[in-house]
Amino acid sequence: MLLWISLLELSLMSPLSNRTAKEEEDGVAVTPEGDKLSILHRSKRGWMWNQFFLLEEYTGAEPQYVGKLHSDVDKGDGTLKYILSGDGAGTVFTIDENTGDIHALKKMDREEKSFYTLRAQAIERRTGRPVEPESEFIIKIHDINDNEPKFSKELYMATVPEMSDVGTSVIQVIATDADDPTYGYSARVAYSILQGQPYFSVESDTGIIRTALPNMDREAKEQYQVIIQAKDMGGQMGGLSGTTSVNITLTDVNDNPPRFPQSLYQMSVKESSPEGGTVGRIKAYDADIGENAEITYHIIDGDGMNMFDIITDKATQEGVVLVKKMLDYENKKSYTLKVEATNSRLDPRFLYLGPYKDVATVRIAVEDVDEPPVFSRPFYMFDVYEDIDVGTIIGTITAQDPDASHSLISYSIDRHTDLDRYFNINSANGSIVTLKPLDREEMPWHNITVIAIETVLENSRQTSRVPVLIKVLDINDNAPEFPVVYETFVCENAKAGQLIQTVGAVDKDSPPSGSRFFFSLTPESANNPNFTVLDNEDNTAGILTRRGGFRRQDMSTYLLPVLIADKEYPIQSSTNTLLIRVCACDSDGTMQSCNTEAIILPPGLSTGALIAILLCIIILLVIVVLFAAMRKQRKKEPLIISKEDIRDNVVSYNDEGGGEEDTQAFDISTLRNPEVIEDTQLRRDIKPENLLLPRPAPTIPDNTDVRDFINQRLKENDTDPGAPPYDSLATYAYEGNGSIAESLSSLESVTTETDQDYDYLSDWGPRFKKLSDMYGGEDSDRDS
Ligand SMILES: *[C@@H]1O[C@H](CO)[C@@H](O)[C@H](O)[C@H]1NC(C)=O
Ligand SMILES: *[C@@H]1O[C@H](CO)[C@@H](O)[C@H](O)[C@H]1NC(C)=O
Ligand SMILES: *[C@@H]1O[C@H](CO)[C@@H](O)[C@H](O)[C@H]1NC(C)=O
Ligand SMILES: *[C@@H]1O[C@H](CO)[C@@H](O)[C@H](O)[C@H]1NC(C)=O
Repeated sequence: MLLWISLLELSLMSPLSNRTAKEEEDGVAVTPEGDKLSILHRSKRGWMWNQFFLLEEYTGAEPQYVGKLHSDVDKGDGTLKYILSGDGAGTVFTIDENTGDIHALKKMDREEKSFYTLRAQAIERRTGRPVEPESEFIIKIHDINDNEPKFSKELYMATVPEMSDVGTSVIQVIATDADDPTYGYSARVAYSILQGQPYFSVESDTGIIRTALPNMDREAKEQYQVIIQAKDMGGQMGGLSGTTSVNITLTDVNDNPPRFPQSLYQMSVKESSPEGGTVGRIKAYDADIGENAEITYHIIDGDGMNMFDIITDKATQEGVVLVKKMLDYENKKSYTLKVEATNSRLDPRFLYLGPYKDVATVRIAVEDVDEPPVFSRPFYMFDVYEDIDVGTIIGTITAQDPDASHSLISYSIDRHTDLDRYFNINSANGSIVTLKPLDREEMPWHNITVIAIETVLENSRQTSRVPVLIKVLDINDNAPEFPVVYETFVCENAKAGQLIQTVGAVDKDSPPSGSRFFFSLTPESANNPNFTVLDNEDNTAGILTRRGGFRRQDMSTYLLPVLIADKEYPIQSSTNTLLIRVCACDSDGTMQSCNTEAIILPPGLSTGALIAILLCIIILLVIVVLFAAMRKQRKKEPLIISKEDIRDNVVSYNDEGGGEEDTQAFDISTLRNPEVIEDTQLRRDIKPENLLLPRPAPTIPDNTDVRDFINQRLKENDTDPGAPPYDSLATYAYEGNGSIAESLSSLESVTTETDQDYDYLSDWGPRFKKLSDMYGGEDSDRDS
C-alpha cells in the first residue's frame, strides 16, 4: 500500500511562529519525532492520510517539500518507480521517482487555489507493471494571514439629525478579509474609531457607528469626518488593518426660534400712501434652515393695529409692514406696533430650549403731504327747473384743504365742460348761478366739472376736480299741437253728424304721468254751423259735420280752428287750424274730385324744380305786367299815332264784317275821345284780383248747355248800358260740362296749371273761332 508522509501535520502541533524555514525544508529528517513509525503511529489516530498540507506564500530559494510517497512493497532496491498525475502534476508539483518525495515548484496562494487533487502510482521499473493500484490524494494549501480587511468604500456619506440621543445609529461600515475565515483569526475583523471621537463611536464587532455625544448642534458644527479602522486577528497586535472615512452631516431640526436682531425699528410713511402700500420691512433671523427657518409675523399689539398690516415675504422671510387704512397726518402723526415673529413649523421637543418666538417694536412716523382740496361730496347733482331766472343760485360746491395750513379755495368751472357758458361759479364761496335761460327740451342735462384750487402762493398749487350734474326739470312750457298736417275733406253728400277726421296731439314737455289733452273749437267759432269737435277723452278728437249739403260751388275749403290744451300747470294751449276741403264722393264716401287748387305735382318733379318753374312764371308775369303798363302809357298818346295798330287789328282778325248795314262793325271808338276809350278798355283788361284764392264756382247748373249759357250771357251784354258800341270779347270761366281745362283765360291757366300744358288751348282754338264768327266777329284781347 501507498503511504503519504506529510511533515506539515506534525509541524502544526507546534506554534507556527516557532517554525523555521529550515525546519519546513528539512521535513521528516528534522522532525523531533522524525521517524516513519511515528507518522504511521499518527495515522492510527485518525488523521487523513491521503492529504498533504502546504503553506502558501513560501518564499524560500529551494522547492518546497510537500511530503513523501512510499509503497510497502518497495524494498529500496530501486526496482520500483513513483508516478504523479492530476492538478498541476509536473508543473506545480514534482515527485522523485526513486524516493517518492513530492516538491512544490511554485509559490502557492490559497486565496487563488486552496487545494490540488493528484493521483499517485508505484510501478515496476523493469516491466512497467503497477505494483499498487493508483490512488488519489489532495494537497491542501494552508492559509497564512496575508490579507488585510478591506472596506467596500473608501468614503461613506451619512446623515443624522442634530440633537439626536446618544447611541443613535448613524451607519454601519463593513470590512471583509480575504483570508480563510475557517482557519485561525486571519479573517476575524474588529473595528475601532481612529478619528471622530468623542462625537461618534463604533461597535467593535459590527461596524455600526453611533452618536456618542448628547445635543450635537448643527448650528455649531455640521460636518464630521470619522475614520474607522478594521483590523484582523480579532484586533490583536500583529493583525492587518484597513481604514475608511465616513463623512457625517448633521441634519437640521427646528431647535432655534426666530430672533430679531434689534428690538426697535423706526419707519416713516407718507400720509398719502395708498391702502396696501409698503411702509417698511423687518427681518428676524432663525439659525435653522429650510422649513425650520420659515417665519410668520403678526402684529400683536400697539395703537397702529387697525391702521397697519404685516405680511411675510416668503422669498426673503421678511415681514412687510403695509398700510391698511388711509392715514391722515392731521389726525395722528405716529403709531407703534408690537410685531411677533414665530416659526411656522414648531417642534415641541425643543420648547424647553426657550421661547420659540421673538417680539420687536415698530415705530411708524406719518409724514405730512401737501394734499389737494377735498370736496364735500364725490360728485354733485342739482335739479333745476327750466324756467328759473338767469342769475339764480342752483347749488353750492364746497371743498377744503385737508392740510394743516387750511389754504383758501378758489372755485372755477372747467370751460370745456360748459362751452355755451350756461353757468358761472362764485370763486369764493362755490355758488353756481345760471348765465342763460335753460331749456329742458333743448338740453336736459348739463354735466360740468368744477375745479378747486388752493390759493397758497409758496406751495405748489394743489387742484381737485369734481363732476357736477345739473338736471333740468320740465316745466309745462310747450303747448300741445297737431302731430301732422291733416289732409281732411268733407264729401258733398255727407250727412250731418258724420265723422270726417280723427285728430291727435303731441307735447314736447315730458309730464310725469303722461299727457292728457283737451280738444275743442275756439270760443269764437264755438257755434260754427258747419263742423264741430268731439273730444274722445283718449287724447284724440273727432271732427264731425254739423250739417249736410256741402257744395264745392258754395265753398271749396273750410278752415276750422281747433283748440288743444294740456292739463299740466301752467296750462298750455294752442289753436291749430284744420283745412277741410269739399270733395265729390261716391256713395261709399270715397273721394272722387275736389274743387281746390291743390297743386298736383307730376311724379318726379322735385320741389326745387317746382320753385324754378314758379320763379319763371313770376318773371314772365312781371314782364307781362310791365309790358301792359308800357302799352297803357302809349295809349295816352294821340290817337293818330296808334292808327296803324287799329288797322293792324282789322286786318289780322279776319273780320268779314256785315257790310254798310253793319254799324256794329264800325269802330266808333276811333271817333271818340281817347279818355272814354280808356274806360272801356279797362273793362276789357280782365285783371284777376284773387288769382291765388280759390275761385268761386260759377252759379251754373251742372246740366246747362253751353249754347244756353252763351245766349244768356250775350243777352246780358246786349242789355248792358255800359257796353261798348262795338263788338268785344267777353271771357267766361266756363267751358261747359266735362271741360278738363275749365277756363280759356291764359292768365288763369298760367297761375293754376303748373305744367304749362297749352295743348287744350289749341284743341279749343277752332271752337273759340267758331263762336267768334257766330256772333259777328270781334276784337280780341290785344295782349293775347
Ligand atoms: C468629507 O469630509 C472632508 C473633511 O470634512 C471633506 O474635506 C471632504 O470634501 C468631504 N467629502 C465629501 C464628498 O463631502
Ligand atoms: C356766495 O356769494 C354770492 C355773492 O356774494 C352770494 O350771492 C351767495 O349767496 C353766496 N353763497 C353762499 C352759499 O353763501
Ligand atoms: C349727464 O349725467 C347723467 C347722469 O349720469 C346722464 O344720465 C346723462 O346722460 C349725462 N348727460 C350728458 C350730456 O353727458
Ligand atoms: C259755414 O258754411 C257757410 C256756407 O258754406 C259759410 O257761408 C259760413 O261762413 C260757414 N261758417 C263758418 C263759421 O265757417
